[in-house]
Amino acid sequence: TLTTLGLMAQPEANYDETKVPKFSVPDPLTTFSGEAITDSQEWEEKRKLEIYQFFEKQIYGKVPALLDEYSFKVIEQDNQALEGKAQRKQITVGLKKNNRTLNFNILLYLPNGNEKAPVFLGYNFHGNHTVTDDPNVIIPEAWNENNADLKISSNKATEASRGVRMHRWSIDKMLDNGYGLATVYYGEIDPDKNDFSDGLHSLFYAEEQTKPKTNEWGSIAAWAYGLSRAMDYLENDTNISNVIVFGHSRLGKAALWAGATDDRFSGVISNNSGCGGAALFKRKFGETIGHINNSFPHWFSESFKKYSNKEEILPVDQHQLLALIAPRPLYVASAVEDEWADPKGEFLSTQYASKVYGLYGKKGIDLTEFPETDRPIQQTMAYHMRSGKHDVTAYDWDQYMTWAETFAK
Ligand code: GCU
Repeated sequence: TLTTLGLMAQPEANYDETKVPKFSVPDPLTTFSGEAITDSQEWEEKRKLEIYQFFEKQIYGKVPALLDEYSFKVIEQDNQALEGKAQRKQITVGLKKNNRTLNFNILLYLPNGNEKAPVFLGYNFHGNHTVTDDPNVIIPEAWNENNADLKISSNKATEASRGVRMHRWSIDKMLDNGYGLATVYYGEIDPDKNDFSDGLHSLFYAEEQTKPKTNEWGSIAAWAYGLSRAMDYLENDTNISNVIVFGHSRLGKAALWAGATDDRFSGVISNNSGCGGAALFKRKFGETIGHINNSFPHWFSESFKKYSNKEEILPVDQHQLLALIAPRPLYVASAVEDEWADPKGEFLSTQYASKVYGLYGKKGIDLTEFPETDRPIQQTMAYHMRSGKHDVTAYDWDQYMTWAETFAK
């Protein structure tokens, strides 16, 4: 059977475990030429780089060049925000290349009373003003996807959408527990539509160029790059001790790639990131490479399209993306009803990446059984399967904070 998703008819998603193809998991500890890796030094010298380069050239795409200029400016600050609980800063970051400029705003809350705090950095889907009802948070000007439930129309956020996504960010609890939050509207980095004329990509074009080259970045890599540019500011803020990068769904894919490309992130959290995130491609359960390239042709590099419906020829899988983050703390979270994201595939890739963590004496996920729902496993690598659907909930944040307390502070 065929279903029409975007441009081309694609096979219907499989949700039947008995129809998952038999596949061999590419070994993180055997090089492409067949050499065995036995310690962390060999891993870093021989294996990590070749895996990294594969993901860079064939999946997410390469960043084409360095910026010409980087600047930031604190444009708003209140040391007694949220009823005195927090310091709020809004920072405009300016990126400049070929005389073109892109600006984005970081919303930062830091808990009052601590000299230095760990911070969660994560993109939001519709604007910094959606994560809180704080009336002082700036509403983004950039293109915004319409969403009737969230009161966004005419592709522009307004006052009407202030606070509509509060439930996804446990800001009060973060502050109470001594954590800060930094968030950015992802549409300010690259509007999420199949159009390469705008956003970060366009800064880097040569004259007459209209889209990235075959092995160059899609939107996920651009979003990951934006997280690193936010980090350029955050790492110099003297009130911040360390930054844990977080993302949900497509933004979880971006958080993982940011974690793999930038080791300044001291920890990484993937919330329901699914296909192209933590899930294994080769299981072809739920969303597949064919589906994702077809519905979101702009997310990956053009070179990744050759793997649509050809998972078997892909020489890597997503556990190797997770392994690139080793030995830094990594949390992968799924939700039971989020079958499109293949929760089991997210669990298995976490488990298969564990042996790379083992090379550093760090504990991964050593369970062989699929874990019970709502029973988190927390080591340097952590995993939970939450009951409920594709979302970010207070439960998820409670687990992330408990884990960060021991492993990621
Ligand atoms: C779609 C897409 C997923 C993605 C999700 C989201 O469902 O197919 O890959 O993770 O959107 O970002 O919410």
